[in-house]
Amino acid sequence: MLIRKPADIKPSEITSKDAYFSRREILRTGVYAGGSLLAGPGLAATLPEARGAKLSGIVPSEFSTDEEPNPYIDITTYNNFWEFGTGKSDPFRNAQDFEPRPWSITVSGEAEVTGTFDLEDFVKPHTLEERIYRLRCVEAWSMVIPWVGIPLASIIKQFKPLSNAKYLRFETLHDPERMPGQRGRSLRWPYVEGLTMAEAMHPLTIFAVGLYGEVLPNQNGAPIRLIVPWKYGFKSIKSIVNIEFTERQPRGSWQRAQPQEYGFYANVNPNVDHPRWSQARERRIGSAGDGLQSIFGAKKQETLMFNGYGEQVAHLYEGLDLRKNY
Ligand code: MTE
Repeated sequence: MLIRKPADIKPSEITSKDAYFSRREILRTGVYAGGSLLAGPGLAATLPEARGAKLSGIVPSEFSTDEEPNPYIDITTYNNFWEFGTGKSDPFRNAQDFEPRPWSITVSGEAEVTGTFDLEDFVKPHTLEERIYRLRCVEAWSMVIPWVGIPLASIIKQFKPLSNAKYLRFETLHDPERMPGQRGRSLRWPYVEGLTMAEAMHPLTIFAVGLYGEVLPNQNGAPIRLIVPWKYGFKSIKSIVNIEFTERQPRGSWQRAQPQEYGFYANVNPNVDHPRWSQARERRIGSAGDGLQSIFGAKKQETLMFNGYGEQVAHLYEGLDLRKNY
């Protein structure tokens, strides 16, 4: 297979926002006008292997924000994915040769159904939804991203968790040959993250398999990653190969690396500062109006409690002291 390097990709080949959104309108009407398309158990998700391939059968979601999404170029060139380097442009540069297929996911632990599943079988029973979400990074920048994904709750139900399954623990692929950042010790590998069962089952939590209506680019966590929009971005673990239902609270990579700075919950909270910086405000990438992922000129805006998703998720944390449980 011919793999093109970023330098070979002309800017004109990168989906423009206008072209994308007019296509999305067609899709919207297509899905709704058809009516019957939505009947039955839903649309079976298929994931083409070719990079940049269009995804079909995407249904819009009531959970999307109306905010203007960042352009594709911001979302795919300003990334955190330490498996491909610690600089913001490293994942774009170093992940191009990564082959995310074939891919399998192992489900283990406290559930009736466990085993190793091919990605195609894993996603097939589900419907793809577009979820335009804010992403707030712990480093006090943010973006708006049109993900394509599957509600994690509908995936979890298939595995019939047992009553003692209190948490989910996720792991990224560990393969230093394919992920050059794993040859160094910037973090302990593999990258690990976890959620409570209630967080994982919340309707806002998704597994993303696409972006801007296309297969997920490598640098954004191909072929499948978690998205939890009310938490700092580091909870949204990329390129997942293991999912475990556990009784005990899992320890995430950042929590393990710097426990005094990163907690298990990591809910976006403007009232609890990071020990080294304020979390009260954030820079929206690209908001300086000069295109390419400008963080330096970007305007600052107030950070919202739970990243603006408080109405939907605050009840999950009733009775919990969010200053202690950060
Ligand atoms: N997942 C893995 N495996 N490795 C990482 O370094 N970085 C996290 C998260 N998931 C990371 C990861 C952080 S800090 C952020 S902000 C988001 O991915 C960034 O996602 P994006 O690059 O798609 O915007």
